Amino acid sequence: MKDLLSEVKSNERIAENIYMITLTLPEDAGAMHGGQFANLSTGNGQHLLRRPLGICKVDGSDISLCYQVKGGGTRYLSTVPAGAKLQVLLPLGNWFDLEEYKSVAVIGGGVGIFPLIRTVAENAPQKDFYCYMGFRNKNAVCLLNELSGCKKLTVTTDDGSYGAKGNAVEAYLREADNIPAEAIIACGPPIMLSVLKRELSQKGFKIPCFVSLEERMGCGMGACLVCVCRLEDGSNARVCRDGPVFSIQDVKL
Ligand SMILES: Cc1cc2nc3c(=O)[nH]c(=O)nc-3n(C[C@H](O)[C@H](O)[C@H](O)COP(=O)(O)OP(=O)(O)OC[C@H]3O[C@@H](n4cnc5c(N)ncnc54)[C@H](O)[C@@H]3O)c2cc1C
Ligand code: FES
Repeated sequence: MKDLLSEVKSNERIAENIYMITLTLPEDAGAMHGGQFANLSTGNGQHLLRRPLGICKVDGSDISLCYQVKGGGTRYLSTVPAGAKLQVLLPLGNWFDLEEYKSVAVIGGGVGIFPLIRTVAENAPQKDFYCYMGFRNKNAVCLLNELSGCKKLTVTTDDGSYGAKGNAVEAYLREADNIPAEAIIACGPPIMLSVLKRELSQKGFKIPCFVSLEERMGCGMGACLVCVCRLEDGSNARVCRDGPVFSIQDVKL
């Protein structure tokens, strides 16, 4: 993990309320994995805490992070021009380690699709990915071209304005028995992960499932305990340091 001064190469709107910021680092970023994240200063003295964003794309010394404008920090970030300098701490956390699996189901919802894109890019074409990506509506759909290496891609929207109507978990469950997935990886809003856990539990957790959690964060490196989540064995874990990727069976959702 390093605290680097990066230069903003571009910062563009890619869908409604969603931006992609590409940062040029002073060194190669090739060893950064999907699931890992960066803690990015917004460049504004008002937001002292950095904002955690999943690593979405890596190209030499450039990394791209995609973010939804939610509050003050991301709103300010969306105004940062190319050429600006931003301090960034990375790579943080663990990642989706798929070494043991040849065929993987990928379930993403909303901003949860971003770390999954890096995971698919770094593992395809050696592995077969069956992707289920859910968006609010057609205006939120983005980055599907980044998933062209998948064996199969199913897109859903809540209102049916693009792809199938419904959500990504429902789409996966419809096909689960007909795809040869040996593991599942998922990232999305808490309600999506909790429904996924309930459904997989009812089926007896036939294959391993790994989820990436998004908790509010402070330091991003294990010191402040802002990001603690509960585990099924009654203990606590720091999402930034022990995660953000956990086995779905280990975390309370
Ligand atoms: C490991 C990790 C990876 C993430 N990756 C991405 C990503 O790739 N793209 C993306 O758009 N977002 C991602 N997030 C969420 C992102 O960090 C928050 O949306 C962002 O920090 C909000 O900052 P803000 O100043 O705009 O909002 P604030 O003013 O701080 O808060 C605005 C709203 O956002 C909610 N919020 C704040 N922090 C988080 C958080 N960490 N998780 C969920 N909700 C939060 C608050 O509850 C509040 O409702 C990630 C979070 C984590 C922990
Ligand atoms: S954010 Fe500080 S311990 Fe996780």
